[in-house]
Amino acid sequence: MIPQDLAGRAREAALRSYSPYSRFRVGAVVLGAAGEIYEGCNVENAAYGSSICAEATAIAGAVATGLRKIVGIAVACVDAADVDGAYPCGNCRQLLNEFGTEWVVVTAGEGTEVRFHEFDGLHPYGFSL
Ligand code: THU
Repeated sequence: MIPQDLAGRAREAALRSYSPYSRFRVGAVVLGAAGEIYEGCNVENAAYGSSICAEATAIAGAVATGLRKIVGIAVACVDAADVDGAYPCGNCRQLLNEFGTEWVVVTAGEGTEVRFHEFDGLHPYGFSL
């Protein structure tokens, strides 16, 4: 599966978002080296700080299933006005850093641009031990 194909899957995942507080639906799809796919969406909570980003749920699902190397991830913020408002937050970039992510695809709603980035360009000098 090529990076751009994942954007459509991320948009579908965003439709399952639980985001009654922000009304900002996000979907994410993690790709493994053997073509495995793990989907996630943001899961909000009445205690706002307990909310989880879409990327985090996708990464957690992938890792819990045994994945240790993430090739790429697609993120779709379907309620963002445009792609500029659809980039992963800093915390999610660090989560992606942990598993060797090579690229990130970002998109917003249907019919919007799909942007490809090398991960290092989005998160240079990421922290690792
Ligand atoms: N959100 C994500 O799912 N991923 C990000 O990278 C940034 C923000 C979610 C968190 C919250 O549910 C909503 O978007 C608004 O901040």
